[in-house]
Amino acid sequence: MRQPKSDIRCTLHPAPGKREADVMGEEVGFSCDGHHAFGGHSLWQYYELQEERIYMDYNATTPMEPEVIQAVTEALQEAWGNPSSSYLPGRKARSIINQSRESVAQMVAGRAEDIIFMSGGTEANNLVFHTAVKHYWEGRGAAEMNGPEGSHHNGKPALPHIIISNVEHDSIRLTVENLSREGRADVTVVPVSKVTACVEVEDVMAAIRPTTCLISVMLANNETGVLMPIRELCQRVRSANKQRPGPRVLVHTDAAQAIGKVRVDVQDLGVDYLTIVGHKFYAPRIGALYVNGPGTTTPVFPMFFGGGQERNFRPGTENTPMIAGLGKAAELVCSNLPEYQTHLRETRLYLEQRLQDVFGRDKVRFNSHFPGSDTLPNTCNVSILGPGLQGRKVLSNCKKLLASVGAACHSDRGDRPSRILLNSGVPAEVAANALRLSVGRGTTRGDVDQVVQDLKEAVQQLERGS
Ligand SMILES: Cc1ncc(COP(=O)(O)O)c(C=O)c1O
Repeated sequence: MRQPKSDIRCTLHPAPGKREADVMGEEVGFSCDGHHAFGGHSLWQYYELQEERIYMDYNATTPMEPEVIQAVTEALQEAWGNPSSSYLPGRKARSIINQSRESVAQMVAGRAEDIIFMSGGTEANNLVFHTAVKHYWEGRGAAEMNGPEGSHHNGKPALPHIIISNVEHDSIRLTVENLSREGRADVTVVPVSKVTACVEVEDVMAAIRPTTCLISVMLANNETGVLMPIRELCQRVRSANKQRPGPRVLVHTDAAQAIGKVRVDVQDLGVDYLTIVGHKFYAPRIGALYVNGPGTTTPVFPMFFGGGQERNFRPGTENTPMIAGLGKAAELVCSNLPEYQTHLRETRLYLEQRLQDVFGRDKVRFNSHFPGSDTLPNTCNVSILGPGLQGRKVLSNCKKLLASVGAACHSDRGDRPSRILLNSGVPAEVAANALRLSVGRGTTRGDVDQVVQDLKEAVQQLERGS
């Protein structure tokens, strides 16, 4: 279970010819004045402290498993040929890609032909929205049969309508915001319940219009860990689709945070599209989109045009080494998911217990506990209550813990509380103190003990005002 030390501890090594300070500036993205951040530590002190740090931000990203690194390395060395070439190095690359496609498909219980490799989750999510809008216009004749609401509005053709939840990742939220701003789609953002932090299927169904072309709701939230009722939603949409004369409402789920932590089965869920993000399950920075029968049962309209790779759905010479890594990481999930899940759950429960023991039940509030909602096994979103204990302040006073206050892409939000937590019903003063602690496959009880002690000292320091 334990990761090699270098996977867990965040050591930074300068590239040949670079000073450590240069590397620090690049890696952490701030000016190298030597006294910039990190609780007043100088860069050099910070560099030394890195050695002892404990990573608990596995929802932000994961290190690659050693077997994954090996698969990537072998592909770099041996499968460098163009997969479209018919001689040996090309055929070798093609065979690795085929094998990876099988493994990724198996991981989500789909068929190999349903997997389209692409750069990552952001691209996969964007492709779904791009497709849904295009598909709407192609099938507009049918939509117009739906009567006045489905046809023209103020003399203009009615826009495609998209439904999302109000706790989606920015790669969803900002994509639909952009479509709406450009007048290319109407968008309904369905709020999650402020009690369960979960989308209510009834609310989504009530938002459907004759022009609705797509519903996109994530499978698991990246901050609260709450699992959304996608299976039930798909069942309801399937029944509703039978009553619709026009093109069916398509359903997409972003499974970035669920894969490798809970079972993900596209057939059981009944989705049309599902987003797969490698770097959340110990694979490299690459992703894939599952589509139920791409181009036949379910539409896919490419965003790029080129050399015909990925059956023209996502052309561009395949990134064989990263695809090899994604396939290997998928194999590991197929073989070990129950073991991963048990370890993640037990470690997270131990973390929660230790936090309560050390701080007292009244001083901690879990923003990942909602009545009636299931959550990811590894996610502990916790606020240590009290004035001056904002998440960012607590983290910057920690000497060991590496964690975040919310989604990594919001790290520039200053002290503003997370919109995901606020939308999930967490009071603003509690949300302001939130820490997102997400444990990984290699996190031990010893790590948890050290992290909780570190948090205790950081809080004591802040409470003393020093
Ligand atoms: C829920 C969710 N969706 C999408 C993404 C984006 O994936 P990528 O970083 O591969 O673009 C992330 C990653 O942070 C995520 O957590």
